[in-house]
Amino acid sequence: MECGVPDRNGLKKLMRMNGGLDVFGVIKERRSIRVYTDEKVSEKDVEQLIEAARWAPSAGNSQPCEFVVVKDMDIKRKLSDAALNQTFIEKAPVVIVVCADVTRSSRGYGNRGEKLYSIQDTAAATENILLAAQELGLATCWVGAFREKEVAKAVKAPKNVKPVAIVPVGYPDERPVAPQKRSVNEIVHYETF
Ligand SMILES: Cc1cc2nc3c(=O)[nH]c(=O)nc-3n(C[C@H](O)[C@H](O)[C@H](O)COP(=O)(O)O)c2cc1C
Repeated sequence: MECGVPDRNGLKKLMRMNGGLDVFGVIKERRSIRVYTDEKVSEKDVEQLIEAARWAPSAGNSQPCEFVVVKDMDIKRKLSDAALNQTFIEKAPVVIVVCADVTRSSRGYGNRGEKLYSIQDTAAATENILLAAQELGLATCWVGAFREKEVAKAVKAPKNVKPVAIVPVGYPDERPVAPQKRSVNEIVHYETF
C-alpha cells in the first residue's frame, strides 16, 4: 500500500477532487461588496481571517501588522464618519482595521521600512483577509479613503501604529457584476517597457 505525502500531480488531483484550494477561482470571484445581510459573522470565521492575514509575507519577516476587530456600534459609526461617511462600514457586523506598527518596519529598514514596507506588508495582509473571506462565503470591501487621525483615535491606536485599511466583513446582500479589468496584453511588458 502506498503511503506518505502525494507527489505534485497527486496533490493537484486531490485538490480537484476536494474542490478546495482553488486560488484562481477565489481571486476571480472576489468582489467589493458594500451591502450586507444582518447575519452575524462567527468568532471562528473572524479568527480564520486573522490567521490568513498573519501568514502574509512581510519585509524581512518584520510582521508589522496589527488588527483591530470592531463590533461595537459606536466605534463602527466613528469609523464610517472618519471614512468620509461611507455608511456601509457601520452596517457590516464586523469591521477589521488593519494597522501597521511602523517601528517594527523602520527597525531593520529605516525610512524605506517606515514609508514603504509597512504599507506593502499591511496591503498583503489585507488582500489575504479579502481572499480568505471569499473562500468562507463572506463579503468584504477594502476601504482606504479615511481620515487617518480619526480612525487612529476611534480604535485608540498607539502613536507608532498607523491605520492602513478598513475592512467591513459580513454576508453579501448584493451581487455586483465583475468590474472591467485591464487585459493582460495591456499591462504586461516583457524584458523592458
Ligand atoms: C487601496 C484601496 C482603497 C480603496 N478604498 C475604497 C473606499 O474607500 N471605498 C470603497 O467603497 N471602495 C474602496 N476600494 C475598493 C475599490 O473601489 C474596488 O476594489 C475597485 O472598484 C474594484 O472592484 P473589485 O474590488 O470588486 O474588483 C479600495 C480598494 C483599494 C485597493
